[in-house]
Amino acid sequence: MTTPSVDAPVDLDALIARLSLEEKVELLTGRDFWSTVPIESIGLRSMTLSDGPSGVRGPVWDERSPSLNLPSASSLSASFDPAVAYRYGRVAAAEARRKGVDVVLGPTINIHRSPLGGRHFEAFSEDPRFTADLAAAYVNGLQDAGVGATPKHYVANDFETERYTADVQVSERALREVYLLAFERAIVESRAWLVMSAYNSINGTTATENDLLTSPLVDEWGFDGVVVSDWTAVRTVDSAKADQHLVMPGPHGPWGAALVKAVRDGEVPEAAIDDKVRRLLRLAQRVGALGDSAAAAVEAEDGPTFAREASAEGMVLLENRGLLPWDASALRSVAVLGSNAEQARTQGGGSATVVPERVDPPLECLVKALPGVDVRYSVGAINQVGLAGLQGDAIVNPVTGGPGARVTFRDADGGELFFEDRLATEFVWFGGDAPIAASRRVETDFTLVPKADAEVEIGCAVTGHARLWIDGELRIDEFLTPEGDDLGAAMLSPRATGVPVSLRAGVPVEVRFEVDLGERDDALAGALAFTVGTRPVQSSPEEMIAEAARVAAESDVAVVVVGTNEKVESEGFDRDSLALPGHQDALVEAVAAVNPRTVVIVNAGSPVLMPWRERVGAVLLGWFGGQEFGHALVDVLTGVVEPGGRLPTTWPAAEADVPVLDVTPVDGVVRYDEGIHVGYRAWLRADATPAYWFGHGAGYATFEAFDLTVDGPVTADRDATVEVTVRNTGDRAGKHVVQLFAEREDSTVERPVRWYVGHAVARLDVAEEARLRIVLSHRALAHWDGGWQVEGGSYTLRAGTTAAELPLTVEVEARD
Ligand code: BGC
Repeated sequence: MTTPSVDAPVDLDALIARLSLEEKVELLTGRDFWSTVPIESIGLRSMTLSDGPSGVRGPVWDERSPSLNLPSASSLSASFDPAVAYRYGRVAAAEARRKGVDVVLGPTINIHRSPLGGRHFEAFSEDPRFTADLAAAYVNGLQDAGVGATPKHYVANDFETERYTADVQVSERALREVYLLAFERAIVESRAWLVMSAYNSINGTTATENDLLTSPLVDEWGFDGVVVSDWTAVRTVDSAKADQHLVMPGPHGPWGAALVKAVRDGEVPEAAIDDKVRRLLRLAQRVGALGDSAAAAVEAEDGPTFAREASAEGMVLLENRGLLPWDASALRSVAVLGSNAEQARTQGGGSATVVPERVDPPLECLVKALPGVDVRYSVGAINQVGLAGLQGDAIVNPVTGGPGARVTFRDADGGELFFEDRLATEFVWFGGDAPIAASRRVETDFTLVPKADAEVEIGCAVTGHARLWIDGELRIDEFLTPEGDDLGAAMLSPRATGVPVSLRAGVPVEVRFEVDLGERDDALAGALAFTVGTRPVQSSPEEMIAEAARVAAESDVAVVVVGTNEKVESEGFDRDSLALPGHQDALVEAVAAVNPRTVVIVNAGSPVLMPWRERVGAVLLGWFGGQEFGHALVDVLTGVVEPGGRLPTTWPAAEADVPVLDVTPVDGVVRYDEGIHVGYRAWLRADATPAYWFGHGAGYATFEAFDLTVDGPVTADRDATVEVTVRNTGDRAGKHVVQLFAEREDSTVERPVRWYVGHAVARLDVAEEARLRIVLSHRALAHWDGGWQVEGGSYTLRAGTTAAELPLTVEVEARD
């Protein structure tokens, strides 16, 4: 492993002394959307920051510069394996280097407080300690390879509605024990080089100006890195007084000349500026952007091979009535149903999006993996929400005659400024070469060549004045304004409109789309995103379901791939329902009614309701499984590998049962009144029963766990070691996850009914036995009361397979 030296003998203060106040302040705002300002005179090059976190997009959002699309975070955390998270970080680091990226804007480690949270798919878990374990490993994987990690969004950004302005009212105790705890290990132990401050306020002060940046982050946890703002989160010069160090994006922003003046007027001490610059230079040193310290090459395992393994490691077998794994040699026919079987979702929406080179849909993977088996497909139910962009094989560029579309940028007089020949029709430009700010109009031209007859809408999604011509006829002429004032959402989830068109197989349709940028909000200058695409018109849901059920009835087994998509689970908004979109529930019910050998694959990044879950043969949760999802799915169905995942968050049976659901600010405020009782803790306190508890899931082997012991008391100076024996009692090798929770009866303070303190993973051959160890620290038993306090006396430790199935117990004594 090559780790660049972080202690190269460069005197940062001597470098700072060579800079004028103007130069120092200039450094503190980005050069553009993704990079920092270079200063040649001190040997500082520009550093590039990029989303992430499930892969690395790089500075352009463009299908011509594809990225490895790793499984989303809820899949990664379901692996329950920090070793997988470490490898994930390392593979991401190799991608970062390949794309010239110094810093990955992740991991996202906000808490799964409500299942409606729009970025749930992008975060790890409802449990803070568990989140911290996985996050620390991911940070190590990145940084050991010389690429900066950015745990985000600090802090309490656990929902999206009104995220720029919402104020989270939360007790100090809940902050410490839940929301800050998720970050603590990544800072204190993994020593993350950056942290991203959030958009929201916490207890009345916006995150970029909040005292929480100083305490605990800097003064208690010893954070010596850079607090980078979420994009446009810094709003005032005053924020320079806080431990907010870098404003992104740039080059315009609230600091600049106003901050130089504030320093000259004595309102902001120059020492505060020097501290920020020192941190930035330290980061530059770490990533190899200062002086001669070149960025280290990263050796990592093959990305797609790892992505396939990681996807299977995260898959959670929620139900299995003896159906899985299949004996592929005995299969004669398989019915594959559901729109996600043909168009799997491999990631959620928003800034976490990367553009994969290719995604092989589950249907295609099944066909390839089962030669000689009659695999028949019927869509059954459409779940597409919003417009889907078109890909190169369905469209022709009228200028080149090749696949794709021509995009032309024009000035106010209609003169051509720039063009791109693109391979798909979903476009996002944040900076890059396209002259967005100088353009008045952007035109997109392509010819759609339908493969089959279909009734569709052709339309566009954009913020701005949209005009769309179909075969030369102006069909849309409308100014599309964003919903709400979230600029990120205006960019990444703009409003859509469409008009009906009857497509005939092989009959070309000429499409021209034009967006007039003249009347747009200035804040969007320099950035542009739009999609030109289609959405299906669903004529008869009943007929489609009946046709799918007919195919299922005629097959040995049926596989229904249900799920959501990036228009349902995304940054910029929260979900308004936990139900699967469209008619997917009815599809599963109809298929299960005619074929008891029905396997349902859930292709979603967050909890969804599954009213049919007890009436089907098996339910396998594949999450947003990354670009290799289809292959991993086949590996698991056919038993080549096990489903390795366990739920990192409790899944409800009904929305009304969820103890903490609310994500909508009231008069701008979201009250975290449940305090420390989040996730399974809230379910336990309410004495409510979910569909599946935190930890639920099984592989294909069976296990026995026994002999839970602890080696003595736990004190401030001495961790205790908890041990348990695990034996594989099944007929194949397998993975077992032992989870450990603590309880304190008759506590003098309010506590969760029980709380997670650690887990261990065993991978054992048939009849193999192992003694697993979990280290129990004093802090794992502590509560916050103006400081960390450990109530002396006896705690019950309970071990088992979910937050509610914990058959083994042992007492541990806590002392000072
Ligand atoms: C998101 C961040 C992201 C940033 C840059 C923001 O809208 O909240 O997570 O890193 O944009 O794309």
